[in-house]
Amino acid sequence: MEHPNQARKSNGAGEVDLRRVSVARIDDYLLGGAHNFAVDRELAEQAVRLMPQLPRLVQTNRAFLGRAVRYLVECGVSQFIDLGSGLPTAGNAYDVAKRATSAARVVHVDADPMVVAHSRCMVEGPNSAIIQADLREPDSVLDDPTTRKLIDLNRPVGLLMLFVLDFVPYAEDLVALIARYRERMAPGSHLVVSHSTVDGGDDTFARAQELYRSYAIEIYPRTRGEVSSLLAGFELAEPGVVQVPHWRAVGSESSESGPAEDIDEQPEHAGAYAVVGRRP
Ligand SMILES: C[S@@+](CC[C@H](N)C(=O)[O-])C[C@H]1O[C@@H](n2cnc3c(N)ncnc32)[C@H](O)[C@@H]1O
Repeated sequence: MEHPNQARKSNGAGEVDLRRVSVARIDDYLLGGAHNFAVDRELAEQAVRLMPQLPRLVQTNRAFLGRAVRYLVECGVSQFIDLGSGLPTAGNAYDVAKRATSAARVVHVDADPMVVAHSRCMVEGPNSAIIQADLREPDSVLDDPTTRKLIDLNRPVGLLMLFVLDFVPYAEDLVALIARYRERMAPGSHLVVSHSTVDGGDDTFARAQELYRSYAIEIYPRTRGEVSSLLAGFELAEPGVVQVPHWRAVGSESSESGPAEDIDEQPEHAGAYAVVGRRP
């Protein structure tokens, strides 16, 4: 039988299909948020049974967002574009950036109209906005009137791609796509990526992938080498490509400050890579 996710490709903000799962609402549920439906919880709970570390993974990713944004502010970046921003459940990019600098400006971007509608009242303000766009179309993101109003591409910008490239099929040339963003970013700009992987894991991720697929959501994990290649043309910030909890974790050699919010007892089990690069 056709799953509602396959049956309804268009999910306009005014016609939310309660039978259709949303990766943003699943994350919201895993983060303890209230913007999710029964179908999202049903999938999330099955996924957690397969991968008990899943809520931790989502939380460590949000903590990485915080550390990365604060690091970029230390590097002189105060404007950010958050691609695939999801629901602003716990510490969205603007929340974090405005705590780090009063000059913060953030454009959140998501392809899902439900996410955009829900986020609007939470992130819209003089220095923060959300637009609906597909990250695979860099010009429509960067030339959107809202982006142009808030972001000056002649100055360094932080481009955030956290747990979003995981939904872009292998057939897409991600290296070429990111190069199109890089070409329009001023020197001193930074790219921040987190991405799921099956490196070093057993078959649990594959079973979780199968589960998501049964709800018509395809996930594309990538290897360390593939994630590294996304940073072509960027200088890697220390400590390079590492599991998410290891990126400038408190107490590590590459970290100078920050609360101890996401140290995992077994970080090698995190199942996702984090990396930050600077455009020279
Ligand atoms: C798993 S959530 C990640 C949210 C947030 N970045 C984080 O790290 O917690 C992925 C988000 O990316 C969005 N998304 C997926 N494909 C996209 C695309 N091609 N363009 C823009 N957004 C996309 C989804 O709608 C969803 O809100």
